[in-house]
Amino acid sequence: MGAAQEFKPRILGFLCNWCSYAGADLCGVSRYQYPASIKVIRVMCSGRMDLEFVLRAFANGNDGVFIGGCWLGECHYVTEGNYDALSMMHLGRKLLDCVGVNPERLRLEWVSASEGIRYAEVVTDFTARLKQLGPLGSGEGMDRSALNLKLEAIRRLLPYIKLVEREKLRVRFDDKQQYEEFFASDALNALFRKLIVDKLAISQILVLLREQALSTGEIADSLGMSRAEVSKHLNSSARQRLVRFDEGRKRYALA
Ligand code: FES
Repeated sequence: MGAAQEFKPRILGFLCNWCSYAGADLCGVSRYQYPASIKVIRVMCSGRMDLEFVLRAFANGNDGVFIGGCWLGECHYVTEGNYDALSMMHLGRKLLDCVGVNPERLRLEWVSASEGIRYAEVVTDFTARLKQLGPLGSGEGMDRSALNLKLEAIRRLLPYIKLVEREKLRVRFDDKQQYEEFFASDALNALFRKLIVDKLAISQILVLLREQALSTGEIADSLGMSRAEVSKHLNSSARQRLVRFDEGRKRYALA
């Protein structure tokens, strides 16, 4: 048996108390079969999900993160948190994609309390997809330290990202398809590039420089960026007094 066949994905699932957790419970009671790949954390509503939880789950070595909530229109809270969860999932996927992590590792599904069989199906399907993707990190062609650096770079930028989400990306549509179209639209991608992509690149550089002072070329090689790109970000960071050039060592260091 090959290594790829032996790979058993680890999934961390966040299930809303009122629907998906009850659906998972029904699945167990009904003895529907599904892979033992998922560990579950119960949250009161899928709207309680935070990108911080997602990043921490990946940093702790999970190959996939699953969010289960009530169907749209059926959330048990007046705030209808599952709409927020859907936006959060799409934004999280874009951030993962931006740092080279396959966005399919983050998945959200609606599962009602009566859909035990659906819970078994979506967990089975997600597990199969993760098997195809391979272990987190090596499946993306990056080692553990490179992966953790990228996750940490997103995590450090989260306060700003949440602000952008609240001010610019908070939308309310009637169905999942409309969310998919919105988050794949040219307008959204342009906004994402303008507001987040450069800041995420700088965040990666700053996390890297915490370890040691580095030259432009060394940063570029470590992060898989071009030297011109790194140089642009270093100049901008130096102007903001985030980094400084150490003349003696001919390296950039944190200011
Ligand atoms: Fe289930 Fe809000 S209570 S998604």
